[in-house]
Amino acid sequence: MNMMTELKTDAQLVDQFGRSKRKLRISVTDRCNFKCVYCMPEHPEWMKKQDLLSFEELYQFCDFMVRRGIEYIRITGGEPLMRQGVVHFVAQLQQLKKLGLKRISMTSNAHYLKKYAFALKQAGLDDLNISLDSLDAHQFKQLTQKDLAPVLEGIRAAQAVNLPIKINCVLMNGINDDQILPLAYWSVQQKIMLRFIEFMPLDGDRKWSSEHVVSEQQILDRLSTKFVVTQQRSDAAQSTSEPARQYFIDGHPIGIISTITNSFCGTCDRVRLTAQGEFYNCLFAPQGLNLKTEIKALNSYEPLSELSLDAALSQYIWNKESGFHAIQQRLKNQPSRKISMHMIGG
Ligand code: GTP
Ligand code: 5AD
Ligand code: SF4
Repeated sequence: MNMMTELKTDAQLVDQFGRSKRKLRISVTDRCNFKCVYCMPEHPEWMKKQDLLSFEELYQFCDFMVRRGIEYIRITGGEPLMRQGVVHFVAQLQQLKKLGLKRISMTSNAHYLKKYAFALKQAGLDDLNISLDSLDAHQFKQLTQKDLAPVLEGIRAAQAVNLPIKINCVLMNGINDDQILPLAYWSVQQKIMLRFIEFMPLDGDRKWSSEHVVSEQQILDRLSTKFVVTQQRSDAAQSTSEPARQYFIDGHPIGIISTITNSFCGTCDRVRLTAQGEFYNCLFAPQGLNLKTEIKALNSYEPLSELSLDAALSQYIWNKESGFHAIQQRLKNQPSRKISMHMIGG
């Protein structure tokens, strides 16, 4: 067996519950031009530019991870289109498709998408998820501190270049839950896949409480007042673990991501890296693993750098806890960790 075949095993990317890791989410920046209430703190302390891993370093890490079984890479932020060079990074990642990478995706707020949609398509981006929490311009501004119009233009630009998109809407009780029906009608009319997301306790200012959550059942109840709602048959459910549970409204697909009331942790196949090289085995992991030194060594082709990264990673991934509820239960009387959604990228 040659060295490459040996490294192609994914044995090290398995946790203690037998869940193999297939999806890597890379946050390329913590900066964002929006201030979504469910994500960004009022006074963010941005990572220093000199502390960020370079795209070359991120690429070397992706190469390493693909050789260990990662098949899907999603580029996140903050807002990924705020980091210069991200389109080139997408193009560079194409080289990893010959090593087993299947898809390169991105999650964006779409504010700059009109400018970048064509270039992203040219660079080979496979799909894009876009946050859109309200179709009401006034409410949108209250939620994000930015205008709705550029986002809708960005969505149209992505459609014009045939970039597959999905819309993410984080629902908060009493804030934008009145958008369930308008967004549902809009998605049917536009033939765009929409996913409603239960608000998770990862907002920058720790204002989350269970009363803010609009549960999967409440979303379904609201949809049922105007649509015939059916659930995707379980045998038709995808074998890749998508966080969204699939439904149909009048025959049109719609998803619900319900970490709080109906978590999908049992099939979790994800890991994540922040822009400054902290690796997280779970969105809610109380402790990340600082891999900056190991990733930099990888990038300078230092001897044994892969071995040391393997050793650090495999143990940390193995120790991944069973999921959201287990972590919440274990840490219920402890202060929550400092890292929030804008740093970890969802
Ligand atoms: P797809 O592969 O297209 O399904 O992407 P995605 O839904 O995984 O990614 P996206 O960035 O669009 O995230 C949508 C929502 O799902 C966000 O609220 C994320 O925080 C949440 N999400 C993504 N991955 C996970 C995960 O592993 N665990 C939990 N609890 N939530 C996740
Ligand atoms: N709860 C649920 N989803 C969130 N997102 C950001 N913060 C939260 C939160 N606290 C979503 C955004 C974006 C994705 C990356 O994560 O809507 O689409
Ligand atoms: Fe995976 Fe953690 Fe999300 Fe559960 S909460 S799906 S274990 S990342």
